Amino acid sequence: MGIALTKEQTNRVEELLSKMTLTEKIGQMNQESVSIVGGFDVPFEQLIEMMTDGRLSKEEFENIMKTAKTDYHEDAIREGKVGSLMVQDPEKCNELQKIAVEETRLGIPLIFGLDVIHGFRSVYPIAIAEAGSFDTELMEKTAAMAAKESRCSGVAWHFAPMLDVARDARWGRVSEGPGEDPYLGSCFARAKVRGLQNDHSENENYVAACLKHFVGYGAAEAGKDYNTVSMANHILYNNYLVPFRAAVEEGAQTAMASFNDLNGVPSTVNKWALRDILKDNMGLPGFVVSDANAIKECVVHGIAEDEKDAGEKSANAGLDMDMGTEIYIQNLEKSVEEGKVSMDAIDDACRRVLSVKMWLGLFDHPYVSEEVMKRYEEIPEEHKELALASAEKSAVLLKNEGGILPLKKDTKISLVGSLADNRSEVVGAWAISWKEKDCVSILDGMKQEFSNVNYYPCGGPEGDLNENEIKDACNNGDVIVAVLGETVAMSGEASSRADITLPGKQRELLQKLIASGKPVVLVLMNGRPLALQWEAENVTAILEGWHLGIQMGNAIAHILSGKKNPEGRLSSSFPAVTGQCPIYYNHPNTGRPAGNFKFTSRYLDAPFTALYPFGYGLSYTSFEYSDLAVTEDNDALKISVKVKNTGDREGTETVQFYMQDVAASIVRPVKELKCFEKATLASGEEKTVEVKLLKKHMGFWNNQGKYCLEDGLFRIYAGADSATELCEEIRVGFESVEKEPDYPVE
Ligand code: NOJ
Repeated sequence: MGIALTKEQTNRVEELLSKMTLTEKIGQMNQESVSIVGGFDVPFEQLIEMMTDGRLSKEEFENIMKTAKTDYHEDAIREGKVGSLMVQDPEKCNELQKIAVEETRLGIPLIFGLDVIHGFRSVYPIAIAEAGSFDTELMEKTAAMAAKESRCSGVAWHFAPMLDVARDARWGRVSEGPGEDPYLGSCFARAKVRGLQNDHSENENYVAACLKHFVGYGAAEAGKDYNTVSMANHILYNNYLVPFRAAVEEGAQTAMASFNDLNGVPSTVNKWALRDILKDNMGLPGFVVSDANAIKECVVHGIAEDEKDAGEKSANAGLDMDMGTEIYIQNLEKSVEEGKVSMDAIDDACRRVLSVKMWLGLFDHPYVSEEVMKRYEEIPEEHKELALASAEKSAVLLKNEGGILPLKKDTKISLVGSLADNRSEVVGAWAISWKEKDCVSILDGMKQEFSNVNYYPCGGPEGDLNENEIKDACNNGDVIVAVLGETVAMSGEASSRADITLPGKQRELLQKLIASGKPVVLVLMNGRPLALQWEAENVTAILEGWHLGIQMGNAIAHILSGKKNPEGRLSSSFPAVTGQCPIYYNHPNTGRPAGNFKFTSRYLDAPFTALYPFGYGLSYTSFEYSDLAVTEDNDALKISVKVKNTGDREGTETVQFYMQDVAASIVRPVKELKCFEKATLASGEEKTVEVKLLKKHMGFWNNQGKYCLEDGLFRIYAGADSATELCEEIRVGFESVEKEPDYPVE
């Protein structure tokens, strides 16, 4: 359901459109790139990239922003040639907005957009982690928090949520999205759109979402960023489009085209993807923006002869806004005169941009008031609490041999690893507006929670090991907590890795720590699933901490002490070795499924299952499943299972329900997540968890884009993760069940 404008607002848009010159219309389709000139001659977004990938520290970035001369394209704004900019300073936003509103012929406000991927000032866990909380209410709240904080800084448009289904952990951008599963991805998508967009009680409470990257970017060949994507239609429809459809149904306003080509056509110029599917079929109400510089890159891609040609192909495909190349503003007028781009295409694009601005209330409230600007000068307590709650719920306990965790508060702990004492490493890739003083490192959190912590850096993802510190760590602690993993710069955009084991000398460090004979608890900080076969065999416990945001240190310490019982789950499968990538639980079956004999679908030198499967995660208590029952109930299946807390403390279990379509006209996945429910149970408590699976959701799209509901046998699974074998079979008929809409075929 798109969020419609009122009749009066629609009329205002149409009236405006009727008064606009062609240049002004194209101006709305132009997002200027703020360039830093004089010494640092790079566009703003590149500067952000340099900060997020570690080439610039946060401090250096802020200094450049303060001192460098910046070109905000004031003259072009004055001439009505700019529709949008990437700016995050509220005073600057007001200054530029004033030019747009008071000095242009029609007074159309600018829309300021930014990468607010997992929080603005209050950074919460990266998406791959947060999705693993399986807590959609929390996901919605963190998005709402980010919306408020950024809108009070003038940013009314988030380049988020990132919804790329991603199954290859070599790809650095797995960190930014909700993981490998289309259903969990669509729950995440809906929650994020609601959180960002739905609170209209005040103008400062909502922003426009921008779904990205449309489409197929997560399937970049060999996990190499920006790489080519080839996929059959049924894989696209049933997996990669699913979270986007859900987000559009929830009312998402805008989307971003992806860098990659899909079956030979870059998304930037892909009419089938942008116009036929995203706009006409799904019904995206607002506009589509290109990715940064992407129109220009169509020439390099080999799909356009020159920039003008690239602009024409993009505009005709339904790409409404050019991010940063000025190709539209410099060429489209001529292209229209030459009849290469229709006036209808321009009007459609401009109308979409104006409508989103209208929906955001920018025409009536273009500025950020002094009072609003100051609202989040300091992070309010409730935002800290939210960041903490989501961090605590997103960490995943992978191993806990002999119940070594939780640790007593007076345990003599040797805390090891340079990442532990680094406040800027907790925020993860694509965090821009955070401040170091708000961040709690693991060392900070541990000192707060435990009485006897000694810190020995010893080494980290980069650089050498310090033998003396290793010796001291081994001699002085009763338990060694080693904080290892990846730096922020090792995941995110343009950060693919061909070997996803612990980088640098960290395994060697672990070997030396283990040689002490003391128990070693490995706390991971990383932006992607890692290949942990050796670690899983050799360390005593593993806590997957991802990059959990500003409250990471407290969250980890609370879990290690048992103040918080871990409940996070994996939103992506962890391979044993890199060569298993891409690895995902919901793969299609072969005629020779992997088994312990030769002529099956497997490797000779690696396991055939994930080391830790999708949905996996331990607790300090244990749960038992029984009595799975599946019955038909009109247009749904009623599924129930008994879950019992068999341990000695309260805990929260994520009860997962999977389905397999046993025989269909095309090969279906071995399992698909269909529902989940979180259940908090006291020690010894048993509960029947009941869910409904609508029959309408049991079908699939075939290669011809038809949504098929085929009568036959289905297996329904329930359990703690995707490897569950607790199963019931049921024969289902779909007569008179309403279907999902079909897709257009390329
Ligand atoms: C490139 C990234 O692919 C995209 O996710 C981001 O929103 C833009 N740059 C703008 O920074």
